[in-house]
Amino acid sequence: MSRATLLTGIGELVTLDPQHDGPLGVVADAALLTVDGRVEWTGPASAAPREDADEVLDARGAAVIPGFVDSHTHLVFGGDRSAEFEARMAGRPYSAGGIRSTVAATRAASDDGLRARLAGFVAELHAQGTTTFEIKSGYGLTVDDEARILRLAREVTEETTFLGAHVVPAEFADDPDAYVDVVTGPMLDACAPHARWVDVFCERGAFSVEQSRRVLTAGAERGLGVRVHASQLAPGDGVALAVELDAASVDHCTYLTDADVERLAASETVATLLPGVEFSTRQPYPDARRLIDAGVSVALASDCNPGSSFTSSLPFCIAVAVRDMGMTVAEALRAATLGGALALRRSDVGHLRRGARADYAVLDAPSHVHLAYRPGVPLIARTHRATP
Ligand code: NIG
Ligand code: FE
Repeated sequence: MSRATLLTGIGELVTLDPQHDGPLGVVADAALLTVDGRVEWTGPASAAPREDADEVLDARGAAVIPGFVDSHTHLVFGGDRSAEFEARMAGRPYSAGGIRSTVAATRAASDDGLRARLAGFVAELHAQGTTTFEIKSGYGLTVDDEARILRLAREVTEETTFLGAHVVPAEFADDPDAYVDVVTGPMLDACAPHARWVDVFCERGAFSVEQSRRVLTAGAERGLGVRVHASQLAPGDGVALAVELDAASVDHCTYLTDADVERLAASETVATLLPGVEFSTRQPYPDARRLIDAGVSVALASDCNPGSSFTSSLPFCIAVAVRDMGMTVAEALRAATLGGALALRRSDVGHLRRGARADYAVLDAPSHVHLAYRPGVPLIARTHRATP
């Protein structure tokens, strides 16, 4: 038996449906009809098909937005790097080397310990309005530990990413290419069944473009979609590689050349910006305005990880992107919903068009603008996630 729920009394409904007004498809004094976990109808409350509803709920004038889509996180890890953060805030620079300390702590952690911590992060995401999220491996860096991380991640999301090429582990420091042989061989064999995506940290101090191409090509041959970490710490050829391989997303994009921007604009690859990283490493923010003006698709994601960005809050990322990255509030909200969906090549989330998953957040505010206007304030009154 199907079940229809009408949420009415919505002060402002952000649908991202082009049939409604403006860049966000906003409806004032709105209602939302969902049937069996899918959006059936959106529009003015006065025109709502009340007779079709088994249940009627009242949003009491609150704003409702699509659930956030966080397309980049690293949530399965052990240990604590608050001392590294504290030292950085006292003037030490960020380097990719800190990843190795989390690797040691993750290898030492039990499945149950990692699982319990992950459950805490999932609750955090939900409480902050995120309804779809990706999780990467990358803190195991052995065949068994990478597969274990992906198995745990798969317990909470279908958007799992194999990031065996996160950094060269200490035991391969003298022969990084031998580590790439492991990543593209037995590690990929063990991990591909638990992953939808393959990713690589293409950056000085991590993997070269040639090594990155080997990893991504091997993953793609196993049916995994491609995503890339690039241009976080300096300009490089990672963005060009991502576009060449039709990556769904290239993430960070803090240091881009004009040629990178042109390549992205002519591609289907989303530029995923991660403001939590620049906030937490005191680096310059990526220039979202430049990308959007050039016609590049932009997403915002948390990159929640213990080293460079330990926030799980997309409202925080939106506030920073608006304040410091040249994005309008509408562009930032779109990037954290529809942008994230595009970065995961998903059409069923990130918006509230007919047929979309009924994933939404009710704000403790009359308008989505408050997400940037009231930084740091917990504005998510309720998150609704359709059961699969
Ligand atoms: O996305 N850039 C590489 N990986 C993470 C940082 C991981 C860490 O420092 O532990 C990132 O920023
Ligand atoms: Fe990352």
